[in-house]
Amino acid sequence: MSNPSEAELIHMFKGIAFTTRSSPELLKSLDTFDAREDDVLLVSYPKSGTHWLAGVITKLYNAQVTLTSPIEFGDISKLEDLNKLSSKRIIPTHLDYNMLPLNFKTKKCKMIYISRNPKDTAVSMYYYYRDNPILPTIDTWTAFFDLFLKGDVVCGSWFDHFLSWEEHENDKNILFLFYEDMKKDLHKIVKEISLFLGLNISDNDVQDICKKSSFSEMKSDTEKANSDPSHTVCALTSNRKLIFRKGTVGDWKNHFTPKQNQRFEEIFNEKMKHSKM
Ligand code: A3P
Repeated sequence: MSNPSEAELIHMFKGIAFTTRSSPELLKSLDTFDAREDDVLLVSYPKSGTHWLAGVITKLYNAQVTLTSPIEFGDISKLEDLNKLSSKRIIPTHLDYNMLPLNFKTKKCKMIYISRNPKDTAVSMYYYYRDNPILPTIDTWTAFFDLFLKGDVVCGSWFDHFLSWEEHENDKNILFLFYEDMKKDLHKIVKEISLFLGLNISDNDVQDICKKSSFSEMKSDTEKANSDPSHTVCALTSNRKLIFRKGTVGDWKNHFTPKQNQRFEEIFNEKMKHSKM
């Protein structure tokens, strides 16, 4: 059987590429979603450390919450399914700020936005495209690099996504985190998250959460887990094994040519000229 064509895998909604795992009907109905004041949103551009953060948050709550599948994953029945959950909901999403259901904004739900050096994000996303059958086929890193810079990838431009959220960095209900900070001092970030969520966690528990959230622990947990779709917090796959690849900072240096780096820097400086990043 031949590979499905890009047109079979991808559809556009409000100028952003989504896979067929996010139905157009669901995307159209997002603004009717009934948010609850105690919902916590876990927001990211793909490949920024979403599963790592989800692991930390669920351990912080110690099983008293439901980590749902991403809000944009599924068909029209999704919103009703989420409504039926009686426990507190941790809801992941790759949506940009403008597409986020209005109710989360008006109810000032807590949201955690995790970001990562876009060069490492691009490399991570390249491997995701390469190994993930629900994403279009990519022949080379060079080809993917161009698509990433143009924003011609699922979830749209990294720059637009980041900037749409950064505009709200002073909103009290939004916590901004960086993958690189989690790598540098996870203990400190876990404490920051628990403070933001209003949880009282002992130092011993923080230590334990950090240990259980290491790349190697999380990767080997995946080998044991079955492939229940609810085990991923990315609308782009239900295969957790695709998530834990290398887990390092600076892998871009093994992929970018000097020329690509220069081009990336030029575009980054132009697009991010009003950003504090
Ligand atoms: P790499 O592809 O660079 O290895 P997401 O969860 O948003 O899809 O992000 C996936 C990226 O986060 C992958 O990056 C993955 O390896 C990394 N990651 C997942 N768990 C991690 C952990 N516990 N520590 C460090 N990196 C982790």
